[in-house]
Amino acid sequence: MSHSERSAPRPIAAGRVDLRVRIGTLELRNPVLTASGTFGYGDEYAHVVDLTSLGGVVTKTVTVEPRSGNAPARVAETASGMLNSIGLENVGLARFRDEKLPRLAKLRATVIASIGGETAEELETLLAALGASGSVGAFEVNFSCPNVAAGGARYWADPARLEQTLRRLRRHTARPLIAKLSPDVTDIRETARACEAGGADAITAVNTFVGLAVDLDRMGSRLGRATGGLSGPAIKPLALARCHEAASAVRIPVIGSGGIVTGRDALEFIAAGATAVQVGTATFVEPGAAPRVVAEMREWLAARGLARLDDLRGRFSATAAQEPAAPVAAESTR
Ligand SMILES: Cc1cc2nc3c(=O)[nH]c(=O)nc-3n(C[C@H](O)[C@H](O)[C@H](O)COP(=O)(O)O)c2cc1C
Repeated sequence: MSHSERSAPRPIAAGRVDLRVRIGTLELRNPVLTASGTFGYGDEYAHVVDLTSLGGVVTKTVTVEPRSGNAPARVAETASGMLNSIGLENVGLARFRDEKLPRLAKLRATVIASIGGETAEELETLLAALGASGSVGAFEVNFSCPNVAAGGARYWADPARLEQTLRRLRRHTARPLIAKLSPDVTDIRETARACEAGGADAITAVNTFVGLAVDLDRMGSRLGRATGGLSGPAIKPLALARCHEAASAVRIPVIGSGGIVTGRDALEFIAAGATAVQVGTATFVEPGAAPRVVAEMREWLAARGLARLDDLRGRFSATAAQEPAAPVAAESTR
C-alpha cells in the first residue's frame, strides 16, 4: 500500500496513551527522566515539579568522597548550547545515602542514582553501600564525564574495561544497571556492546561532547579548565545519531540524551530506537521542561491515534528518508 492510500490517523484521547516503559526490572510511568547533573538531587526542584509526574529522577553523579568540582568559570554559553566543566561536584556517598535518598523517598520519586568513580573498586564501594537501598530504582553508571582528570570519559572508553567493570558491579546489586556512555569514541556500538556483554540492563546515549570556547581577548579558555562538555540543542543531531547507532547494536534498552527540549525531540529519539529519554540543559531554561515534554509526547501520539509508545519505537528508517511524507498512524489504522 502506498503512503497516499493509507487512511488518516484517528485521534484518541490523550489520557488513553500508555507511556509506560521498562528498563530491566524497573517499570517507569513514562519515558522521561531528568538528566544527571541538571536537576540537582531532585528534591531541590520539588516545589516546581511534581516528581511523580516524571518517569524518574536521575540524580547528580555521586562519588565515594564529596567533591568540590573544578575551578570557575564552570559554564559558558555557546551557540544553541552550553559548555560546562563542573567536574562532578557532589555531596559524597554518606550524605547522599543519609540525606538525599530519604527526601526523594518521601517525595515518591522513582530514583535512578548516578554513580561515578575513578576505578572499578570505587564503583563497587558505591554499589555495596547503595545496592540494596529500597529507595533506589536503578543505577546509572557515569562512564563518560569529560571534566575530570581521572576516571573520566577517556578512561572508560575502553570496551574491555567497561565489560570487566560491569561484570564486577553486577555482583553487587539486583537493581537495573544503566551504563552512560560518551559520544567521543570512534564507534559507540563497540562500547555499547561491551556494556551489554558485561551485564548492563540499559545504555544511556549520550553524555556531553568535549568542546572548547576560546576567549580571544585573554587567549585562554572561557572555562576554568581548557575544555568542557557541550550540551543543549546544539548537540541533538549528534546525540540522535549516536543513540540510533547504539540502539541498533544492542538488545538492551537505550536511553536517549542530548538536546531534548520538546516532546517532538523526545519522540525523534524514540523513533530512532530509544526506549526512554532524558531532559537536561532544557531544565536550566525552564525548570518544568521535563513534565512539559511528557505532556507534549502524549498529545502528539494521541493526535495520531498511537495508544502505545511501542507503536512508534524504532519506526525511523534510514531508507525512508527520500519517500514522500506519510502520516504516522497506529498499525491498526493503516
Ligand atoms: C551542568 C551540567 C552538569 C552535568 N553533570 C552530569 C553528571 O554529574 N553526571 C552525568 O552523567 N552527566 C552530567 N551531565 C550531562 C547530562 O546529564 C546530559 O547527558 C547532557 O547534558 C546532554 O543532555 P542535554 O543536552 O539535554 O543537557 C551534566 C550536564 C550539564 C549541562
